[in-house]
Amino acid sequence: MDRIRIRGGRRLAGQIAIGGAKNAALPLMAASILADEPLTLTNTPALADIATLATLLEQLGVVVTRDGRTMKLDCARVTSTTAPYDLVRKMRASVLVLGPLVARERRARVSLPGGCAIGARPVDLHLKGLEAMGARIELAEGYVEALAPQGLRGAEIVFPFVSVGATENLLMAATLARGTTVLKNAAREPEVEDLAHCLVAMGARIEGIGGDRLTIHGVDRLAAATHAILPDRIETGTYAMAAAITGGDVELTGTRIGLLEATVASMRTAGITVEPTASGFRVRRDGPIQGTDVMTEPYPGFATDLQAQMMALLTVAEGASMITETIFENRFMHVPELRRMGANINLHGSSAMVRGVRRLTGAPVMATDLRASVSLVIAGLAAGGETVVNRVYHLDRGYERLEDKLAACGADIERLKDTA
Ligand code: UD1
Repeated sequence: MDRIRIRGGRRLAGQIAIGGAKNAALPLMAASILADEPLTLTNTPALADIATLATLLEQLGVVVTRDGRTMKLDCARVTSTTAPYDLVRKMRASVLVLGPLVARERRARVSLPGGCAIGARPVDLHLKGLEAMGARIELAEGYVEALAPQGLRGAEIVFPFVSVGATENLLMAATLARGTTVLKNAAREPEVEDLAHCLVAMGARIEGIGGDRLTIHGVDRLAAATHAILPDRIETGTYAMAAAITGGDVELTGTRIGLLEATVASMRTAGITVEPTASGFRVRRDGPIQGTDVMTEPYPGFATDLQAQMMALLTVAEGASMITETIFENRFMHVPELRRMGANINLHGSSAMVRGVRRLTGAPVMATDLRASVSLVIAGLAAGGETVVNRVYHLDRGYERLEDKLAACGADIERLKDTA
């Protein structure tokens, strides 16, 4: 398995180009199942998760072709309605094919994603919503079987709490249901909004886009469309924190502040300068990092997918920071690893008390999920000595050419290829 070696202490300066959002690309790709004409996505990132979903879609009958950043998904005919275990277990987001399959084929069999490193993560809201729309759901042999012989019908669905995936799955399903569906307490993440805009371009009738109440009037069929995937706000925030921890000066291009206002507000409180530019924004730090309290929340609050990176940044702040995670129950796996690098962090349930230290020290580390792994890279950039991050495949799921982008700004970072 590849590893990443960082020799810390170099200041980052230059430009980093931000790619299309992984978490928008995944539901958008699944949406191709809804139409019998091709969906063309531009600004597609080259990531392991995208390849995993493409493989699954191919098994269902979608013809996927790529030309650079453009991906064409043609689902003239669905040839299978089963999403098998060996693909779903690799990536939870595979469950996003459930809604589109039931909507178009009136049946689907999707392996249950099971537990994952950041908590139990059930899919009960996805299933309850489909049931409310008239599907019969059975669980057998580790699979969810959904049947709607008469087709789905519109329903009013009130989410007890915000779920990005359930909102996306039911939004897609509702586009082809008979009648009107109302999703209340829907997720407002920019990726949900991006999906809704693409569905409208395909011929869907959706009201309330960008709000927490989505009204969908079902139509008989969706048609061909071309859609540009929005910039990845998590990749953006990650590099913003990398620049900040090194006392650097980096312009992030192809992105915008508006996608991560809560993050930018927290970074400014922490003493980081963030200014818009013509093609994105610039992140700079001259003075010390100030301790800052952060709480993760559904959008537009501070993103849980940036919590680990923010914690890495605050390990070397002046003063203390309280970081509270409200979305996932077990998302502090980076804490023991950051401690091994000299960070002073105490966990109290869903909160972490981070007391800033003067300097981190490099160490061999590893993490069990994507964002935790990248937080160790950020820590390594500021640590004295050498940090080796193991299990790099987690990083490849969500960061394209991470080491190249950081090295181009002056980081001493390289991928150690597994020669075994
Ligand atoms: C998406 C993102 C992920 C991000 C998360 C929260 C994708 C591909 N992934 O994940 O990167 O961290 O949003 O912003 O877009 N839950 C239930 N029952 C359900 C569904 C969710 O209990 O049926 C719980 C989850 O366990 C979690 C919370 O709801 O505690 C939020 O999860 P959700 O918003 O659904 O996250 P994902 O869509 O899986």
